Amino acid sequence: MDRNEKNPHTEGKGLRRREFLVTLGWSALFASMASTAAWMVRFLFPNVLFEGSSMVKIGRPDDYSPGSVTYMEENRLFVLRDDKGFRILSAVCTHLGCTVNKDAGSNSYSCPCHGSKFDGNGRVARGPAPKPLQMFDITLAPSGHMVVDTKKTVPRSQYFTV
Ligand code: FES
Repeated sequence: MDRNEKNPHTEGKGLRRREFLVTLGWSALFASMASTAAWMVRFLFPNVLFEGSSMVKIGRPDDYSPGSVTYMEENRLFVLRDDKGFRILSAVCTHLGCTVNKDAGSNSYSCPCHGSKFDGNGRVARGPAPKPLQMFDITLAPSGHMVVDTKKTVPRSQYFTV
């Protein structure tokens, strides 16, 4: 058989293979472009965390007896009532955000994660927590309920009185 003579058994197979490879190449290119476009569209929508309101109703002043420390699990805060009035202490550890516990039989708080301790006013008694627990502002709603603003911190010495 002459070199230039076409083989009837292989004629057309090269063309089909070439068509297949071209189609595969274009498909890969379009898939890549579509993936890139999808990511670009995704970046148009930022990661926004829709949090609830910072205002938390904690009930009426009479719901808390003098000298009590009440834990509000849903909002991770303690309602402290003593003879000077009310204060709200955050239960969120200032180290890495674990929830601190009130120590039984003691006026202090402990973090179960890395062992930080806080005194009864939320000040750091033992690290690694770098800062004291936060105190939040309280107002009285027209309905007579106390409302805590967990975005508004107040000095440790500030009491809410009714
Ligand atoms: S999170 Fe509280 S000590 Fe680390």
